[in-house]
Amino acid sequence: MQAYEKLLLENKAWAGEKIAHDPAFFTKQLKQQTPDFLWIGCSDSRVPAEIVVNATPGEIFVHRNIANQIITTDFNSLSVIQFAVQVLQVKHIIVCGHYECGGIKAALDKQRSDLTLVNNWLMHIKDIYRLHEESIESLPTLEARINRLVEFNIVEQVYKLTHTPIIQQAWKNRQGPTLHGWVYGLEDGLLNELVSLTPHHAIESIYQYTDLIAG
Ligand code: CO
Repeated sequence: MQAYEKLLLENKAWAGEKIAHDPAFFTKQLKQQTPDFLWIGCSDSRVPAEIVVNATPGEIFVHRNIANQIITTDFNSLSVIQFAVQVLQVKHIIVCGHYECGGIKAALDKQRSDLTLVNNWLMHIKDIYRLHEESIESLPTLEARINRLVEFNIVEQVYKLTHTPIIQQAWKNRQGPTLHGWVYGLEDGLLNELVSLTPHHAIESIYQYTDLIAG
């Protein structure tokens, strides 16, 4: 059996188990999805969104990319955020990064000329490094420096959400969603919250859309 065939077999077993436990498991989800959470995570195979929070299908709307970034020229992540906030009306957005992130590690290293697209994607992380260079370089080991930048990146991405008109409009119109920055530990499987922003958070004036700030 080829490796990919095991996935298809496992899928049959999984669907069978779900139906054995609850015959309506799939059919009751047919009409619509009503997730309360948008998860913006890293593509890393070791941090699967639903599994690490023990969620079932229908609970979390998910977007993952290298190093869990929100880049304001990236239609992919912005479309996911817009749909989740304006249509699904999610109550929480979780930006979840993880320690020992390969994307962050690569961003702390020299560029690889064969990885033209990845270089551009990670360039934004290098910018975050420059903002916090002193604090990062004061750490004794590469591992510690990577993990500190992991944390700075997560917090930065949460703030970037507040810079979008999508969040500013939602905060004005429906006093939500709450934004969270979480970090996942590969060594213990645990999540920790680094930052949490509610609609009461004061957005720095240069990022404010003048007609969207809640009075
Ligand atoms: Co990663």
